[in-house]
Amino acid sequence: MAMNVTQKIIAAHLVSGTLEAGRSIAIHIDQTLTQDATGTMAYLQFEALGLPRVRTELSVSYVDHNMLQSGFENADDHRFLQSFAAKYGVHFSRPGNGICHQVHLERFSRPGGTLLGSDSHTPTSGGAGMLAIGAGGLDIALAMGGLPFNLNMPQVVGVKLTGRLQPFVSAKDIILEVLRHKTVKGGVGKVFEYFGPGVAHLSVPERATITNMGAELGATTSVFPSDAVTRRYLAAQGRDASWSEWVADADAGYDEVLEIDLDQLEPLIACPHSPDNVRKVREVAGTPVAQVAIGSCTNSSYTDLMTVASMLKGKVVADGVSLGVSPGSRQVMEMVTRDGGLLDFIGAGSRILESACGPCIGMGFAPPTEGVSVRSFNRNFYGRSGTKNAAVYLASPETCAACALTGVITDPRDLGLAPIHVPVPEHFLVDDRMVLAPAAEGSPVDIIRGPNIAKLPAGQAAPANLQGEVLIRLEDDITTDHIMPAGAKVLPLRSNLPAISEFVFHIVDETFPTRAKAAGGGFIVAGHNYGQGSSREHAALAPRYLGVRAVLAKSFARIHLANLINFGILPLTFVDAADYARVQAGDQLSLDIRGLALGQALTLRDETQGLDIPVMPQLASARDLELILKGGALSWASEQLEKVS
Ligand code: F3S
Repeated sequence: MAMNVTQKIIAAHLVSGTLEAGRSIAIHIDQTLTQDATGTMAYLQFEALGLPRVRTELSVSYVDHNMLQSGFENADDHRFLQSFAAKYGVHFSRPGNGICHQVHLERFSRPGGTLLGSDSHTPTSGGAGMLAIGAGGLDIALAMGGLPFNLNMPQVVGVKLTGRLQPFVSAKDIILEVLRHKTVKGGVGKVFEYFGPGVAHLSVPERATITNMGAELGATTSVFPSDAVTRRYLAAQGRDASWSEWVADADAGYDEVLEIDLDQLEPLIACPHSPDNVRKVREVAGTPVAQVAIGSCTNSSYTDLMTVASMLKGKVVADGVSLGVSPGSRQVMEMVTRDGGLLDFIGAGSRILESACGPCIGMGFAPPTEGVSVRSFNRNFYGRSGTKNAAVYLASPETCAACALTGVITDPRDLGLAPIHVPVPEHFLVDDRMVLAPAAEGSPVDIIRGPNIAKLPAGQAAPANLQGEVLIRLEDDITTDHIMPAGAKVLPLRSNLPAISEFVFHIVDETFPTRAKAAGGGFIVAGHNYGQGSSREHAALAPRYLGVRAVLAKSFARIHLANLINFGILPLTFVDAADYARVQAGDQLSLDIRGLALGQALTLRDETQGLDIPVMPQLASARDLELILKGGALSWASEQLEKVS
């Protein structure tokens, strides 16, 4: 059978199932990554499994999210992560070494391999031909334990690229064009695989920008072939041995095909408050801009930053604009410094931020009240920037630079500059001393635990009858940022479940935690695509801690659905979506789950309205069913590992 790249990588890692789209499969995971915001919890979960060392080819713990040192919590977490990594066989990328996805692409990505990361932008390494998937921390803990990762065999969307990017049109515009076509719901259950003659003209960092932001499609992942371009990139990173060729067979098929002619593409911009609200930059040109931020795991490679530096050279940012620049990694920071880009940034009045996530999750550099912020990032959900009423736009680094110089939204082609081409270096500056290898022998290493690291409460088996009130009724496209906000106040509490739970749904309704606890838990009702956005498992863990036992929605985002099941929250969809309108906030619901079985609808009783509502449990496998009945995955996994050992 002729196969595309996605099918080839999955076939090479298949533990159970077949390559039939939509069917449940399990795949072996070669590598894992965590970042600090999700990592502490993933490692507490791994610890609970009772294994002496990780069982992966490579696992890396990054520190890039919580870098503000306004209290002891972040520093304590970093020490916990470092000591954990040394003990259990995980590489530790120290704070300051860069954003997990950028560093992983540079130093660890391996074409044809599988990577599972507790961050939704893990698909970045798909730019180097990896099948790289974002998942919850618990899934990462299980993969580190050597258990396979369960998912539904995805459909494969072929994105055929023809032509060549024109000056000041960039890889970011390609993924914005895909988002314009497919929307934030368009990728659920799908892998986006890029092919066609245009692919050869894109460098690995450009490909990684595209696979990174493919997460905004809700896709399982995105992948490029591993070809001569990939080989050159890995050689330039001093990693020739990591390369192998992974290209689609000549007559390989795709479930659907989207064609993009790069010659015709123009600079695009995602307008507030969704990455798929995409328009041509020229259509919104002239809008006053208060802030520009360049960086993030999407667009902070050496070539991105040197391109911006050369646009800024000898100029100064507009009077009303604050420009922040965060290089994606220490490697990028050092090379941009060595090659003069840093001087251009500083000379232009940029504020140089550290190589970390920072403004992307509202950690410093928040926009002013009702201000417009144009960012080279991947997300512009309401409130994510740290300023609730800010208007955040997403665009290429080139468009960001043009906005910073003019003070209004500007198509970079309208600056009248000569075309800029920054080639990918033939030799990157390689210095891995900020990545610590684990101790050769783990048992003598003590784990350092600060007071902010709280033990996980034991899971409780589900009662036969789920009862409670509708604690909150939500619209479509509720993100994990709505459910469990990030930001400087909240993120430091991520290893302290009782404390972080006090912030659940704060953006939507600050009374939620108090009401949920007073009611002894209950139900959440939502529209389509509930839980879209990030892999943040606290968005399931914290509601569960507050007593939520079921979410009733029109549909769910993939990673969040898995997280709900992992933490023992039953995901249900309306058999008839029209019933959504009948269930109201405050209604008393009851659901007998004694008949819980795969593919079988249950009847939910709305006592307040006197209605019987058919609902479908969103459980794909016998494993999902067991997890719900056992009240979560940790006790289930311990049993599985005993069988494997
Ligand atoms: Fe960090 Fe933002 Fe990427 S939080 S991992 S830079 S999406």
